[in-house]
Amino acid sequence: MDYVQLNDGNKIPAIGFGVFMIPNDGPTYEAVLEALKVGYRHIDTAAAYMNEQDVGRAVRDSGIPREEVFVTTKLWPQDYAAGNAPAGIDLSLKNLGLDYIDLMLLHQPYGPVDEAWAALEEAKAAGKIRSIGVSNMNVNIWNKWVPGFKTLPAVNQVECNPLFQQRELRAVLDPLGVKLECWYPLGHGNAELLSNPTITALAGKYGKNAGQIILRFETQDGLITLPKSTNPGRIASNLDVFDFMLTDDEMESLRALDTGKGTHDPEDPINEERLLSFRVHE
Ligand code: A2P
Repeated sequence: MDYVQLNDGNKIPAIGFGVFMIPNDGPTYEAVLEALKVGYRHIDTAAAYMNEQDVGRAVRDSGIPREEVFVTTKLWPQDYAAGNAPAGIDLSLKNLGLDYIDLMLLHQPYGPVDEAWAALEEAKAAGKIRSIGVSNMNVNIWNKWVPGFKTLPAVNQVECNPLFQQRELRAVLDPLGVKLECWYPLGHGNAELLSNPTITALAGKYGKNAGQIILRFETQDGLITLPKSTNPGRIASNLDVFDFMLTDDEMESLRALDTGKGTHDPEDPINEERLLSFRVHE
């Protein structure tokens, strides 16, 4: 497993296991246990995924020392106001059943983002969280909020895959040492991406599958990537990307697949309205 150095001194495994849309009360528990068994050491959940309990239970039952597993969760806008955020953070700790969270993100860039960020900073200072970051901030949203933050985020987790490489955002984040984390790193199973001839040719050359070529490209390009699967074969194969290297020319051929467009526009007011009204607890 490769690790990525964060700007706060902590290290994060380059590939994390994503559990978005895997139900609680069993399926997430099984998937996370399987992922830990085959070597994942980084799990990415969120209050809004409603499966923090299963994630924490699997981490505790895995027999792997807590300090060897990197657990990310995310605070939801419902809890961003200064008066709510500390309780929101404590609720994630309680649901996970863990003493600390390795990385907590602001899940969506709406509502009182500045108040929520200050609460993450305080929880970090109190030892409840080791690293803090943001999510779904494009360049405009980043420039709106982050210059007012006391500390710089360690990461920004956004939609990112070979068809949507976030080059404009990376031009802002890279010089600051802020790492980009990819959600939908396989294009959410997008058949057009997985059957792209550039990718399938490389899969043939290296004896890997298309998903492995994509994840190798992302990690070799310095990204942290969060593939999701409930299929045991794919859970294992998605981690098996550290025994080969793409050449510079091959990296360039994959960079050329960028269309600059993804499925989610964080600046769309419909998204803002929809996500602000979504509630993750009473
Ligand atoms: P499954 O759970 O059956 O493996 P993303 O991480 O980009 O959101 O993509 C997740 C989707 O892609 C899921 O539908 C998952 O289905 C599928 N998937 C995960 N890994 C692979 C892979 N290596 N090749 C093809 N499809 C994959």
